[in-house]
Amino acid sequence: MLATDFEQAQKRVQELIPKIEHHRFCYYVLDNPEIEDIEFDKLFNELLELETKFPELRTPESPTQKVGTAPSTEFKQVHHRHPMLSLANAMGAEDLDKWQERLEKALDSNDVSKLGFVCELKIDGLSIALTYKDGELVEGATRGNGEVGEDVTLNLKTIKSLPKKLNAITLPDGRKKIPAEVDIRGEVFMSIQSFSEVNKQLEDDGEALFANPRNCASGSLRQKDPRKTAKRKLSIWTYNAYIHDLEIEQPQSHHATMNLLKELGLPVEPSYKLVHGISEVKEFCSLWDEKRHSLDYQTDGIVIKLDDLKLWDWLGATSHSPRFAIAFKYPPEEIETVLEYIEFDVGRTGAVTPCAMLKPVKIAGTTVKRASLHNYDQIQRLDVRPGDTVVVRKAGEIIPEVLRVVIEKRQANSEPVVYPTNCPICDTALVRGADEAAFKCPNIHGCKAQITRRLEHFVGKEAMNIDGVGEVLVKQLVESGLVQDAADFFSLDLDSLLTLERMGKKSAEKILQQAEAAKKRPMANLFAALGIPHVGVNMAFDLAQYFPSVDKLASASAEEIEKIEGVGPNISRSVSEFFKNPQTIKLIEKLEKYGVNLEDSADAKASLKVSDALLGKSFVITGTLKGLDRLKAETEIKLRGGKASSSVSKNTSYLVVGENPGSKLAKAESLNVKVLSEDEFLELLKAT
Ligand code: IVH
Repeated sequence: MLATDFEQAQKRVQELIPKIEHHRFCYYVLDNPEIEDIEFDKLFNELLELETKFPELRTPESPTQKVGTAPSTEFKQVHHRHPMLSLANAMGAEDLDKWQERLEKALDSNDVSKLGFVCELKIDGLSIALTYKDGELVEGATRGNGEVGEDVTLNLKTIKSLPKKLNAITLPDGRKKIPAEVDIRGEVFMSIQSFSEVNKQLEDDGEALFANPRNCASGSLRQKDPRKTAKRKLSIWTYNAYIHDLEIEQPQSHHATMNLLKELGLPVEPSYKLVHGISEVKEFCSLWDEKRHSLDYQTDGIVIKLDDLKLWDWLGATSHSPRFAIAFKYPPEEIETVLEYIEFDVGRTGAVTPCAMLKPVKIAGTTVKRASLHNYDQIQRLDVRPGDTVVVRKAGEIIPEVLRVVIEKRQANSEPVVYPTNCPICDTALVRGADEAAFKCPNIHGCKAQITRRLEHFVGKEAMNIDGVGEVLVKQLVESGLVQDAADFFSLDLDSLLTLERMGKKSAEKILQQAEAAKKRPMANLFAALGIPHVGVNMAFDLAQYFPSVDKLASASAEEIEKIEGVGPNISRSVSEFFKNPQTIKLIEKLEKYGVNLEDSADAKASLKVSDALLGKSFVITGTLKGLDRLKAETEIKLRGGKASSSVSKNTSYLVVGENPGSKLAKAESLNVKVLSEDEFLELLKAT
């Protein structure tokens, strides 16, 4: 063998590995591939071939050695090098005066009136710690208890605006340098627009909504599967940096830190301002009281920080918060208006939702005309009647809600709400399930409202994502008779589309292109699109991991479906019944006829292989396995009907022991839990 052959192969392998990792990340984590599958396969196969020819080039880190497609975070613990504190609150201008007095005392000076303060918007999200080493984002963690947080690095990497690599900064002598290490602090949040999109989707799916963007951001960042985080479109603003570098000095002032963050390429909320004295601080707070409502992200106050960093050290901190900063909080707005009448909407699942139609009123920056009353029980609880004066606010500052009735202002002739007994659209008698909050229209296949809502859902972003087909077009398509069921979206052609009012050739062509592309969506999207009762986007995703084709899911028994974590009898029954329904069978046949993909491609799927040896058994893994990573091992256990858990108890059936096992081994031995070596574990899997 020529040395040059080997050297050439080595060089190529070193090029291929980061390339493949990058495309894997784009595909699996971001759900946003940059190259065609076939191009990816070419790169992968080239690497495989080189490693087969020169086995010495194969390392355990090679993408060819990493089985399993779902990268996951295990939320390991991260110790914060700089503790993450909270802030003291100022609930009004007087609290700011008191803070000024405290500063005067502590700084032994009466001239706080000239001190520099940086006023920043207080973003309502969750604080995050990031570490960059040699410019690379290596770790990101939640605040946790301030000392120890959760490692959410992979999830943070899905945030588009967060650089994975920092820019070099210019040193005083003109040289450029990337800091050796830098710890960043910032706030991860969700824009109001993304939050509304997520909640709309959840509402469509009949799932619980997030109360506000903060909860939604936090729930999204803590997903075990970064692909789910990536779908939630999080954002970040950064506001502090701790530099660890021999040549780059920590800035002297906070406004200089903000400039440094920008120079490093990190996103900084642009509204911050350096002001002098508490009176200018107050001006900033009043200015933003109104102005903040024009932003697409939620701010619940202003964070005020002394500009001079020497004073930060001098003032120190309590165990909860530093003395150099304070959070000025805006009070929530509650406004009175008149509830004119109640409208009853029928959703995709037939649920009837009462909605308060209000005399338009301005709250927290927007004009509010409607507020959901959720369900019958809520109307009873509030005892709200048409004509009542009601107090309205925005829950989480965004979603309008009726808080209470102003009874003193009730008209003498007011009448309680008459809750409809029949569907307001198709007049079918409404029904209410034993433990359900909503009354429902049972006319699933005949109620026009339900049909239209379902079709809107089918083409939606998280479902088949047929871009360009929105609410208005769905309505037109249904009214013209061109679309009667979901499969009809794939039977459209140019001539039929052009019969629609205001439809141009260009738009029609685009719709057809999009419909064609939608035929190839993965099963996770199709399962979400079908509108299976109780199956939202997340559940559809989980189902597709285990049953990567319509056939497999349709023929799975309720018991098999219940093997999936989080699936109870309600969901499994709902899925089984859905696929037995003649309407569903007809729809699936039609989808197949029009060439819609009903199966995930071979490498994307893992199918259930229930095994008696593993069924119902609980496994814990400790130490490092050589042959497969932990996630893959856990997936294989679950696919065979076993349970994977993280701590040993008397209910643990097996402890699988890899290299360098932890304290779990001793615990398992003390509890007489059966211990398996990696090889024994692999044998058990193979026996399936
Ligand atoms: S500074 C030790 N600046 O508000 C000081 N915090 O109520 C650390 N927050 O835990 C915080 N925007 O999660 C700072 N511009 C901003 C902020 C901000 C939002 C959050 C942060 C903090 C909480 C305190």
